[in-house]
Amino acid sequence: MKFVTNKLQTSASPDTRLVDPLGRVMNYLRLAVTDRCNLRCQYCMPAEGIPLNSRDHILQFEEMEQLIQIFQNLGVNKLRITGGEPFVRKGLLEFLKRVNNFEGINSINITTNAVFIGDIISDLEQLKIGSLNISLDSLQKDRFFKITRRDEFEIVMENIDKAIKSTIPVKLNMVVLAGINDDEILSFTHLAKDNRIEVRFIEQMPFSGGPASESIISADQILNILRQQYPLLYEQNLPNSTARIFYNPGYKGTIGIIAGYSRTFCSSCTRLRITPEGMLKTCLYDRGAVNLKEMLRSGKTDLQIKDAIIMAVQNRAKDGFESQERSSQDYNVSMAQIGG
Ligand code: GTP
Ligand code: 5AD
Ligand code: SF4
Repeated sequence: MKFVTNKLQTSASPDTRLVDPLGRVMNYLRLAVTDRCNLRCQYCMPAEGIPLNSRDHILQFEEMEQLIQIFQNLGVNKLRITGGEPFVRKGLLEFLKRVNNFEGINSINITTNAVFIGDIISDLEQLKIGSLNISLDSLQKDRFFKITRRDEFEIVMENIDKAIKSTIPVKLNMVVLAGINDDEILSFTHLAKDNRIEVRFIEQMPFSGGPASESIISADQILNILRQQYPLLYEQNLPNSTARIFYNPGYKGTIGIIAGYSRTFCSSCTRLRITPEGMLKTCLYDRGAVNLKEMLRSGKTDLQIKDAIIMAVQNRAKDGFESQERSSQDYNVSMAQIGG
């Protein structure tokens, strides 16, 4: 008689936790609610955009809610809503209000380009928003246009100002682009002086919907630039954070550096992703482990879906390099198709 080890134990009881082979407990789900976006950031999409999924190819809100329910029963307590741009999806605010009632979800977080948030900040203040992460890659109007290919600088700056004045914690995400905006690192850092925000510098990753960039400014290079200017900078990290976090004496806010390309934080990564098309990814750099949308639409039970999620986590790679190797992913995929 053969004994089955509990390594591949599949029947999930309500208190099952998602633990991967390295013992990392997956408690953070990034849900991409659309692949559409109103901007065309050059590191994310080509000028003409990306081939979009038709509406019935992306998850419906009810399907997302069913999945969140399953994930919360598996111990997920932090949700981040991404896209594309999440707020181009009609009905998002109502969806967020419903998810706000999910007892297992302690914090709902959103990553946005801020174009559409001006009128709904007070609604968001009523929800358990952990952080609003806003993408902004230049403080110069003409450069903003060059990077995003859209003329939305003024509204974005106005909405960032409103968000900072609200009760919601704000993080600013700046993707550092060689020869394009790298001379703005210090002006971005300065924003953390009087504002209680986290200004984050992100290494460019090769998810541009086209060819990968040839020169990338690394997290170490970014840190050197900061250290030269601010010798008193000291580091104090939070568990499971993508960003290394730095404090500059006298600053109200903090400075983050995200080595998304160098992948130095994988050993503490507890993130799962669902793409707009409903694929479960256990790493940004993998091709997708389970098609959850197909499972939902072919009438699989919640228990079967739970089991598939557990199996995917049990098969998780140790880091982004191994995921990349396993998936032999070509980099023509856009960040908007993954969800960031
Ligand atoms: P917090 O929940 O506030 O910690 O946010 P976050 O940094 O996880 O999310 P955000 O959407 O603001 O992403 C900031 C940058 O980090 C983007 O460029 C993401 O693509 C990148 N990022 C987020 N999660 C991962 C990850 O698991 N691996 C890698 N390599 N990059 C990631
Ligand atoms: N490399 C690094 N970050 C990227 N983002 C989008 N595309 C890339 C890329 N190729 C960022 C956005 C947003 C977050 C979800 O991911 O600026 O802040
Ligand atoms: Fe849109 Fe975000 Fe991609 Fe820019 S990075 S094009 S804001 S999805």
